[in-house]
Amino acid sequence: VSSSQITVNHSAGSYPIEFVDFEAAMNSIPAHSVIVTDENVQAAWGSLFPASIPILSIPPGESSKSLARFASVVEWLASTGVDRQSSIVAIGGGVVGDLAGFVAATYMRGVPYTQVPTSLLAQVDSSVGGKVAVDTPEGKNLVGAFYPPQSVFISSQTLATLPERHFTNGMAEVWKYGYILDADLVALLEEAPLQASDERLEAVVRRCVELKTEIVEQDEFDRTGKRAILNFGHTVGHALEQTTGYGPVLHGEAVAVGMVVEAVLGERMGVTQAGTAERVKRGIVSQGLPTWHEGLDSVDDLLKAMWRDKKVQVNW
Ligand SMILES: NC(=O)c1ccc[n+]([C@@H]2O[C@H](COP(=O)([O-])OP(=O)(O)OC[C@H]3O[C@@H](n4cnc5c(N)ncnc54)[C@H](O)[C@@H]3O)[C@@H](O)[C@H]2O)c1
Ligand SMILES: [Zn+2]
Repeated sequence: VSSSQITVNHSAGSYPIEFVDFEAAMNSIPAHSVIVTDENVQAAWGSLFPASIPILSIPPGESSKSLARFASVVEWLASTGVDRQSSIVAIGGGVVGDLAGFVAATYMRGVPYTQVPTSLLAQVDSSVGGKVAVDTPEGKNLVGAFYPPQSVFISSQTLATLPERHFTNGMAEVWKYGYILDADLVALLEEAPLQASDERLEAVVRRCVELKTEIVEQDEFDRTGKRAILNFGHTVGHALEQTTGYGPVLHGEAVAVGMVVEAVLGERMGVTQAGTAERVKRGIVSQGLPTWHEGLDSVDDLLKAMWRDKKVQVNW
């Protein structure tokens, strides 16, 4: 096992996360596969996709993580003749990964799939841990599954074509890992927020993958509460994504706002150390992420969305 690989163990086996050159990742795609990607990723990296493999390119953006898009991917697989011996290769950001992963979990009761995350957010977070889902108007990730991939290939070179807003968006999850698990990471980011060209980037991506792996291995199915730590900022963040209609506020942006709001609430409730919210706010601002959104004014809508959050526990 080379040091450029991290193994994620789960109840049905394990999968490697390999840090590789994008072309090497493409060369390791088995012949009997199909690729699901989005139009932006295809435009930037499609020339390196294996020529003989069927490709489905979906419209980019959160609105593609829908039941309607799910249905159209399934129809395409069926008409392309994909069977259980085939595997689905998801090349793209978290939208492509979550959607194609959920299709893989359910098409013919499950076909193997591989993640090739091309956004920062997907590399540090969504491609790791086996959670796959689509959104519905009622709730973010309301329909989904726990379905681990066969393998994950991370090529940091793909980040070179990622638009700046989406780089910054992914950094929200990086700060999150720092705040919940790694004071050294926070110190590093507070010294100077990470930019796309930063030489520290690869090491930071790897660190985030290690941290997430550690947590998901301890609570694969979100049952013991361990995994809930990864949801810092997400109760408010997911509600904001839902109430604003999936898209205007990117996931990481919503999480950034959510971390600030949740830290403020934590301080008011007396469960969070005083000064935390101010420190989180400073970090978020330094990265160029939002700390507020006008959607926060619609408190009733947000609360309604939060009641449908999968983490809700009521002691009847
Ligand atoms: N499954 C999980 O555990 C998990 C964890 C965190 C987030 N998520 C989900 O991930 C989603 C967000 O992921 P995202 O931020 O990657 O969104 P995304 O998939 O929409 O990608 C962001 C944008 O960047 C473009 N893009 C991606 N890679 C590119 C590249 N290399 N070059 C040029 N353009 C590129 C995409 O086309 C898109 O426009 C949300 O739906 C969120 O809920 C899931
Ligand atoms: Zn997230």
